[in-house]
Amino acid sequence: MSTDEAAAQRVDELRAQIRRHDYLYYVLARPEIADVEYDRLMRELQALEVAAPHLITPDSPTQRVGGQPVEGFKVVEHVVPMLSLANAFDDGELRAFDERVRRKLEIHRAEYVCELKFDGLAVSLTYDDGVFVQGATRGDGARGEDVTHNLRTVRSLPLRLRPDVGEWLARRDWGPLPRRLQVRGETLYTRKAFEEMNEAQAAAGKPRFANPRNAAAGSLRQLDPRVTAQRRLDIFLYGLDSEVPGVARHSEAMALLAELGFPVDVHLTSCEGIDAVIALCQHWHDARNELPFEIDGIVVKVDRYDQQRELGAVSRSPRWAVAYKLPATEVTTVVEDIIVSVGRTGALTPVAVLEPREIDGSVVSRATLHNEDEVRRKDIRIGDTVVVHKAGAVIPEVVMVVESKRTGAERPFVMPTACPVCGGGIDRPPDEAVARCLNVDCPAQLRETIRHYASRRAMDIEGFGDVLVDQLVERGLVKDVADIYGLEVGTLCGLERVGQVLAEKILRNVEGSKAQPLPRMVFALGIRHVGEHVAEVLAAHYGGIDPLMAAPEDELKTVHEIGPEIARSVRAFFSEPRNRALVERLRAISG
Ligand code: IVH
Repeated sequence: MSTDEAAAQRVDELRAQIRRHDYLYYVLARPEIADVEYDRLMRELQALEVAAPHLITPDSPTQRVGGQPVEGFKVVEHVVPMLSLANAFDDGELRAFDERVRRKLEIHRAEYVCELKFDGLAVSLTYDDGVFVQGATRGDGARGEDVTHNLRTVRSLPLRLRPDVGEWLARRDWGPLPRRLQVRGETLYTRKAFEEMNEAQAAAGKPRFANPRNAAAGSLRQLDPRVTAQRRLDIFLYGLDSEVPGVARHSEAMALLAELGFPVDVHLTSCEGIDAVIALCQHWHDARNELPFEIDGIVVKVDRYDQQRELGAVSRSPRWAVAYKLPATEVTTVVEDIIVSVGRTGALTPVAVLEPREIDGSVVSRATLHNEDEVRRKDIRIGDTVVVHKAGAVIPEVVMVVESKRTGAERPFVMPTACPVCGGGIDRPPDEAVARCLNVDCPAQLRETIRHYASRRAMDIEGFGDVLVDQLVERGLVKDVADIYGLEVGTLCGLERVGQVLAEKILRNVEGSKAQPLPRMVFALGIRHVGEHVAEVLAAHYGGIDPLMAAPEDELKTVHEIGPEIARSVRAFFSEPRNRALVERLRAISG
């Protein structure tokens, strides 16, 4: 064998191995080798291709890094038009859809498949002899744009279909596959990839994307595929447009696509009759946030192809499918004001006061704006119409300003130069995004410190609600958490909405908190970076408050799970004489 033949053979081997590992990693999420091993295979392939460029093929795994920029997008005519879906907004509309289906088909019960409605961008993909040759956006449904160069960079999209499906097909009496295979699916970002990408955008001083769908659209329409390759776009397939002999149902087509190596929706569920469909929609209504990506509904499809054909399409949507829409996770509203709240550590956080709107089941009237830089970067002004988003996490966020709604009457936000609560000085170190009130006696800090100390997961003092804590701080009855233990029934009775019985009950709870175990006490102190888990780790390692208070930074760093930032913060806390004195008092109190 010549060296060239040997190289060609090795290139083939490497490509087959890499494809298999790509499939295991990106599609099945079940990798078999470590990243370094994978990188080694990839580097060997790259080296061989550099030495012998004539061996490079468009379906080589090395081609995912992004080829040359394109000048514009070619127009692609869709062989099968890409229709849209009719919507159903409630159970009644799902039942009406089901009735139309059953009436037309003259059946008692329809067989449906339900799949997630991915909130991304539709694409159609063409494979010739098992090799990915073209991908196009939906466009107007009849004509889209050629985005092959960008789709090649999508790691979960196979550049070549898995070999050896012949036997699998034969076992089912299906096939053969047509030489040209046409499929479609949705490109999208997982929440994690979207966050990472927006972080990168922000770090580069570029505008953030409002939501994963816009981000996917932006990435697909990139002229330079090297940019797309840096991003972690994903894809899920939901349709087979080509005819494959024997495949008679949508669910069967999806099984075939999975076998060919495509990522398909693992949540696809067959449902007999509309009641099962409604129950499933309800499930996803409650469980959507558990998914790693966003969905905007559930697509309900008649499973059998012959029935789909019989039902046909009206205007631009098929009569055999409907999209059950979930409530929006994004609304537009108006910023009525921007206030600044002061946290436990003195951090000043701008908060948008919003015209209340319901988002995904709860009324949202405030949204954190994180810090001054964030307000400036998003250019959020008082009076602005903004897009507010609540996803995955429960915390609502202002995504962006709707600039077209500006009237000129909006007022820019000005960060206060003094603490809005105590009037004390504030400091913002040059390398930090957060400004802090410097006054350790700031009532806002004290209030938050006490709230935290008494909270359920810390010392768990029932009855120490916000109203009570506010009064105790405002009247100067509590100046640090140790003062809680000096409170008397008579003092509490003088407060609003506190009677004798309640006062006694609260004090019993205060007394009871003395018996809380060490991890809770460490957590309750409110040391920066010391959450519940870290508190447990520290308590378990040191066994008592004294050794922890005495521990040098270098020693703390050696404790398993304790990083330099936590070590520094713990040391700084216990170096502060006020804090040491406080701990001494707490210890004396709890005996
Ligand atoms: S089927 C003819 N299945 O929803 C029916 N569409 O409004 C073709 N979509 O443009 C669509 N997930 O971008 C189908 N599991 C799914 C889907 C899905 C998301 C999108 C797709 C389409 C739009 C239709």
